[in-house]
Amino acid sequence: MISKYVFGQPVETGAAVMEVPECTQPLSLMQTEQTPEGVRFFCGMDRMDVVYGLGEQMRGINKRGFSYISYATDDPVHTESRHALYGGHNFLILSRRNLPSFGVFVDDPGRVVFDVGETKLDRLEITASCDCVLYVIEGDSLNDIAGQFRKLVGRSYIAPKWAFGYQQSRWGYTNEADVCTVVNGYHGCGIPLDAVYLDIDYMENYKDFTVDRERFPDFAGLVASMKEQGVHLVPIIDAGVKVEPGYPVYDEGVANNYFCKEEDGTDFTGAVWPGRSHFPDVLNSAAREWFGSKYQWLIDQGIDGFWNDMNEPSVFYSEKRLKSIMDEVLSMKEEHPDMHSFWLLKDKLGSLANNRDDYKSFYHNMDGVKVCHDKVHNLYGYHMTKAAAEAFDRIVPDRRILLFSRSSYIGMHRYGGIWTGDNASWWSHLLLSIQQMPSLNLCGILYTGSDIGGFGCDATQDLLMRWLEFGIFTPLMRNHAAFGTREQEVYQFENIGDFRNIIRIRYGLVPYLYSEYMKAALTDGLYFRPLAFDYPADAHAPKVEDQLMVGESIMIAPVYTQNADGRYVYLPQDMLMVRMKSLEERHCEVLKKGHHYVDVALNEVVFFVKKGCMLPMAVLDENIKSIEGIDASGYEWIGFADDTAEYVLYDDDGLSKEYVPRSEWKKVTMVMAGAGTVNVRC
Ligand code: GLC
Repeated sequence: MISKYVFGQPVETGAAVMEVPECTQPLSLMQTEQTPEGVRFFCGMDRMDVVYGLGEQMRGINKRGFSYISYATDDPVHTESRHALYGGHNFLILSRRNLPSFGVFVDDPGRVVFDVGETKLDRLEITASCDCVLYVIEGDSLNDIAGQFRKLVGRSYIAPKWAFGYQQSRWGYTNEADVCTVVNGYHGCGIPLDAVYLDIDYMENYKDFTVDRERFPDFAGLVASMKEQGVHLVPIIDAGVKVEPGYPVYDEGVANNYFCKEEDGTDFTGAVWPGRSHFPDVLNSAAREWFGSKYQWLIDQGIDGFWNDMNEPSVFYSEKRLKSIMDEVLSMKEEHPDMHSFWLLKDKLGSLANNRDDYKSFYHNMDGVKVCHDKVHNLYGYHMTKAAAEAFDRIVPDRRILLFSRSSYIGMHRYGGIWTGDNASWWSHLLLSIQQMPSLNLCGILYTGSDIGGFGCDATQDLLMRWLEFGIFTPLMRNHAAFGTREQEVYQFENIGDFRNIIRIRYGLVPYLYSEYMKAALTDGLYFRPLAFDYPADAHAPKVEDQLMVGESIMIAPVYTQNADGRYVYLPQDMLMVRMKSLEERHCEVLKKGHHYVDVALNEVVFFVKKGCMLPMAVLDENIKSIEGIDASGYEWIGFADDTAEYVLYDDDGLSKEYVPRSEWKKVTMVMAGAGTVNVRC
C-alpha cells in the first residue's frame, strides 16, 4: 500500500509515474514537525532495525549510524566523512525486527538530509524543504516494498546487450591511434572487448558535439571500423557549453534563451573543462528538446552509446565568486598573512568549486515558471539525461542506445544508468562499490557499476584483479582511470592470462546476467539484493555487509582486502560453491549453511548457487572478440538441487525495444543426479 502526503507546493519532478491519491489521514508511521529548514519526518528505530537504500552514498548496505545529504556534488574524494555524492536518491526502507517494515520516498529535488541515527542512535530523521511529497510504502516483505516503490517510479532503463560486455576507458585517449592501441592491446591478448570510451579529449577544445578533426581525421570511418571488430565507441557529453561566439551550440543557446539565467536575466557563467561555460536549461522543455537534438550529429556518425558527465552541474568556479575572491586575495598582497588569515585564504579558494551560493544564484525557466536552481538542484543530471533519451526516441525510436550519467535523481532511472563517479584505486572503494550496488538497485538504478580498478590514484595488479572478479557481476563492467594515473588496461600488467580468464568468465556468464537484468527490469525487481531480502527469517543475514545476491540463482562474496587469499563467507542455506580459474576449469562443492573460511586465490572467481537453482554458462570460442560472438544455440548449466532445479531464461535480440512478454519466457527444468554441473546443450 502506498500513501501519499503533500506538503506546501512541490515542484513536479516526474519521479513518480503512478497516480496515487493524496492521503487525507494523518501520517502515522512517522511524526512530522516544522523546522526553520523545512519539514521534518522522524521515528524511532529499534537496536536491530536496519535501513536500506539511499542509492549512491558512502558507507555500508545498512545506512544506520550516519547522515546523508541529497544534494548532488562533484566531489572526487569519496572518504567516509562525505555526506553527499553525485545523486539524489531519496528512497529508503526501514526494516524493523518487531514491527512491520516500511519504505519512504521523499520527492523533493532540493537539499534533503537523512539523519539515520547519527545524531541520536535510535532515531531516523528526514529533513526536506516545505514543498515536498512524501510516499510511505507498506508491504508484506522487503522485496514487496521495493517492488511497489519501483511500480510507483516506473520501469528501469534497458541497455543494449553489447553494453554487458567488457569496456575500457581512460581520461587520456587523445587520438585515433590511442583508440586503436587499446583495441589491438585487448585483441592481441585474446581478450574480448565491447566498448572503448572517448573522454573529453576527443572534442575540439572540450566543446560538446564537436570532434577534433586533427586527432580524429575520419571519425565516422573510425566508428565503423571499430564496430566491424565488435567495439563500440562511447563519447562523453558534458553539461557545460563553452562560451565562444561562432560555436553553433553556444550561439543557438544564447539566441533562444536556452541557458540558465542569473537573477537579472543574463546567462549564468561558470567554469568547467571548456573554461567559461553556460548551462543548458534542461528543465525547460524547449531547451531540453534542443539540447537532446544535438546528439543526433554523433548518432549519424555511427555512435550508439553516450555517458553524460559534469551534470550536478559541476561548476569549478563562477565568474562572480572568482572575481570577489581574487579581489580579496589581491588586497592582502602586501600583508604577510598570519596563520589565521592564511587558512582563511586557503578555505576561500577551496570553496570556489560547486558552491551552494552559486547554485542559489541562477534560475530555470520551467515552462514559464522561474525557479531557483537550488530548489531543484538534483533534477539537473536527470533532465540532461532525459533530454538525450527523449531525443533517441525521436531519432532512433526502435533501437536501444547505451546511456548513463554521473548525476541523477529517482526518475532518471527510466532514461539511463549511472556510474558511481570518481572513486580511487583503494581497497576500501572496492568494498564501497559492492555496498553501493543494492542501494542503487533499490532506487531503480539497475544499469550501474563503478570505475573498475579505481579512477584516481595508481591501481596495483592485485587490486585490479580483485575488482574485476567483482566487476564481472555488475551490468556496467568498465575499467576507467584518470589522467596522470598508472595505465590501467589489463594488458599493462603481468599475468595477462589470468586477466583474460576472468574477463572470459564474464562473457560466459552473460546469458545469465543479461537474463537476470532483463527480468529485474521488466518485473520491477532487484538484480542485486542484500541477503536479508532473500532470507527474511535469518537473523544473521541483515548483518552481512559484503555479500550480495545476484539475480535469482547466485550469491557472491567478493574478496576486497589487500593480500587476502580468501575470506569468511556466510551461507544462509546449503549452497553449491563454484570455483573457477577459467571458464573451462571449474570445481564445484556443496557447502553447508553457516560460516566458512573460503580460500580464493588471486586468479580465481568463486560464487555460490542457491539450492533448487541453476544458471546457464556460455561455451566460448577461443577467439571470441565481443558479445556478438556468444553462441546462444546451447549453454552449459550449473545447478544445485536434490531433485529438480529450475531456471527462467530470458533472451532477446539485445537491440530492439520489443521485449519478450512474460508469457513467453522459457522455463528450463533439469532433473539433477546430484549437485554440480550438468553439461546439457539446450
Ligand atoms: C570527471 C568524470 C571522469 C572523467 C573526467 C574527465 O571527473 O567523473 O570520469 O574522466 O571528468 O572528463
